[in-house]
Amino acid sequence: MPLCGFYNSNRIREAKIVMGGVARLSFSIEKPLLKRLERLVREGRYANRSEFIRDMIRDRLVQREWKQNEEAVGTITLLYDHHKRGLTQRLTHLQHHHHHVILASTHVHLDEALCAEVIVVKGRALDIKRLADLLHQQKGVLHAALSVSSTGKELA
Ligand code: NI
Repeated sequence: MPLCGFYNSNRIREAKIVMGGVARLSFSIEKPLLKRLERLVREGRYANRSEFIRDMIRDRLVQREWKQNEEAVGTITLLYDHHKRGLTQRLTHLQHHHHHVILASTHVHLDEALCAEVIVVKGRALDIKRLADLLHQQKGVLHAALSVSSTGKELA
């Protein structure tokens, strides 16, 4: 039957493995959505759609790692005024208490009063989130941001 033949040839094309362990596949998408995809590719300055889709899949995998409390990597950025009474000591104390998830930290004196601190973390997602929340909650912290990434083990 022609219809079956069409689907079969599609399936064969999707499963075709080309050199370097890369699979080439085709998929269906509505035209308006395709336009949006192409705009995202352009705006993201991706070389092509494949790059964009690979990146999107990895992003979803990282989100899942965090949702499932797997081992993750991230950075916590803090902005605070070191004149605030006891704040520096409290931030240091919290970091010592969570030393098992902290890989490194960098402190930058932005001006006479303001400090920026970037803490590189690796550990269970919930432990990292807990530490980020605790640091954020300290009185005098003007801004705190958690950037979530991955150990990369599942992304290759
Ligand atoms: Ni400072």
